[in-house]
Amino acid sequence: MCGIIGVTGGRAVTDVLLQGLERLEYRGYDSAGVVVQTGTELWRARAARGTSSLAELRRIVDGAPRPSAAGIGHTRWATHGHPTEANAHPHLDCSGRVAVVHNGIIENYRELAAKLAAGGHVFSSDTDTEVFAHLLEDELTGGASLAEAVRATLRDIRGAFAVAVVWAGEPGTLVAARRVSPLIVGVSDGEGSEDGPEAYVASDIPAILGRTRTLFAIDDDQVVELRPGVMRVRTLAGKAIEVPQLSVDYDLEAAEKGGFADFMSKEMHEQPRAVGDTLLGRLQGDGTLLLDELRIGPDELRQVERVLVVACGSSYHAGLVAKHAVEHWARLGCEVDIASEFRYRDPVLDERTLVIGVSQSGETIDTLQALREARQWGAKVLVVANVVDSSMAREADGVLYTHAGPEIGVAATKTHLAQIAALEVLALYLAQLRGGLSPADARLLLADLAGLPDLVQQALDRDADVARVAERFADVRDFFFLGRHVGLPVALEGALKLKEIAYVRAEGYPAGELKHGPIALIEPGTVVIAVATRTPVWEKMMANVAEVRSRGATVVLLANDGHDETAEQADEVLWVPETHPLFAPVVDVVPLQQFAYHVGRGRGLDVDRPRNLAKTVTVE
Ligand code: G6P
Repeated sequence: MCGIIGVTGGRAVTDVLLQGLERLEYRGYDSAGVVVQTGTELWRARAARGTSSLAELRRIVDGAPRPSAAGIGHTRWATHGHPTEANAHPHLDCSGRVAVVHNGIIENYRELAAKLAAGGHVFSSDTDTEVFAHLLEDELTGGASLAEAVRATLRDIRGAFAVAVVWAGEPGTLVAARRVSPLIVGVSDGEGSEDGPEAYVASDIPAILGRTRTLFAIDDDQVVELRPGVMRVRTLAGKAIEVPQLSVDYDLEAAEKGGFADFMSKEMHEQPRAVGDTLLGRLQGDGTLLLDELRIGPDELRQVERVLVVACGSSYHAGLVAKHAVEHWARLGCEVDIASEFRYRDPVLDERTLVIGVSQSGETIDTLQALREARQWGAKVLVVANVVDSSMAREADGVLYTHAGPEIGVAATKTHLAQIAALEVLALYLAQLRGGLSPADARLLLADLAGLPDLVQQALDRDADVARVAERFADVRDFFFLGRHVGLPVALEGALKLKEIAYVRAEGYPAGELKHGPIALIEPGTVVIAVATRTPVWEKMMANVAEVRSRGATVVLLANDGHDETAEQADEVLWVPETHPLFAPVVDVVPLQQFAYHVGRGRGLDVDRPRNLAKTVTVE
């Protein structure tokens, strides 16, 4: 996890760093820090105040303005070492002349630290990162340039990293490198700007997008050396290489709050557009689907005999919906795996398996590594990602982008809906290729799909009703979310949102499985939220609802508009418009997001930055 940023050149080094860190905060906010080169010295400021770390850092930096040639910054999500100031990045060597920021984990750091300590190095943090600063110190003492020192040091390091370093001995030079963790480079020639030429590194595009649109993605084991307006990239062995420029479709303004109280509500309100944009151009009037950007051709897809979806968090829940769609329409067996579990068993895969990675960021390490594993087994890998040119998108055989725009709120909302929409399209496309979908059926289904943005808007418009229900249950500390069929992933997502946003214990469970254990927990007053919209198993779902009601549970039902039979069994109803049952999750998740939002806000919580979470998880 963690976010890193670096800049060289210009007149506003600390401003660029702090602004970049604000945009990277979704990657963690346990602590934050910067180092800048002033003359032939380094100056460091750090703050470890949880969600107010960055505000505190800004206060310190603004209180001590200084002209700087280059600098690096970091926002941390703690892995090794408590979230204290001593463990906050940047980390320095013994001399205080080399500074490092790092995202990732150095797996062999204990071994390296022991060697360094034996050689006389003194450590001032519990982090894995600090070994890197001391290793560089040894190389630089031996006469290496900063870039040479980084290349030599990385050859000894095992694990995942994106690092950026500065050294007092080379003013204006910034060196960065990556293995597994993401790293973007930007270069500005300074034309039309008072700041003159600059160059930047960052974990993610939005951190530097306001400064330049000349961006490059650095690959594994590449080391980049930056001076104002100039970039040089070499392999670890020192061979010079060219890296292709990235195509960027981000609009910076879209990353700002646009009048909403927080990013989460803004992003929930953007859901009709996110779903609409994801469908755009992919549904044809003649009842066919067009996925010409997929990179995996129709013939290859026709060879597929089995589908496996790997993902984490909300993306995993989108995968669970995809299983229903792929099996129902394409008649292909489809399994869904949590990415962190997938890698560590012996999955059975071959070249006829289509492995679909679902990831908003395209960087989640567990999913990225699972897909690498799948490719090694010869499987075709397709990624459903939101971030263009992200690591997964670049490495996979094929990619289907969701067009949800940048999502800043840590808990996924609009990207989750867009993922489900994209996966539905993909399932129908596979069905079409396999001849399993008649043009007449396809036309009807595509019309339903095209209607989803409007239905999502209708669901959003009932926010005040959801807020009232959330207020009624504001003090409840334990919820059950039940669902069956495609209602199950909806229930799981509803429970996850409540945990993430409101810190309330919420168990998502298959309703039919309840009687095999968890029903023992139901007692008078237990609150059960059940997805009782019209799936093919609505009657069975209502039988499960009756089971919990008869044991005294207070029941909130998600019901389709006008379906009074459902409402009669409920203490509270969350109404949603009806659509094709397999598309229903796109609509049904909305009130559950709103419910979590209102409970969280009601408790005075920062819904955009829940404690202990990060938007992009780049540690295993
Ligand atoms: C983090 C986020 C979740 C997200 C998950 C997977 O835990 O907080 O909202 O669902 O990562 O992220 P991805 O980028 O792979 O979809």
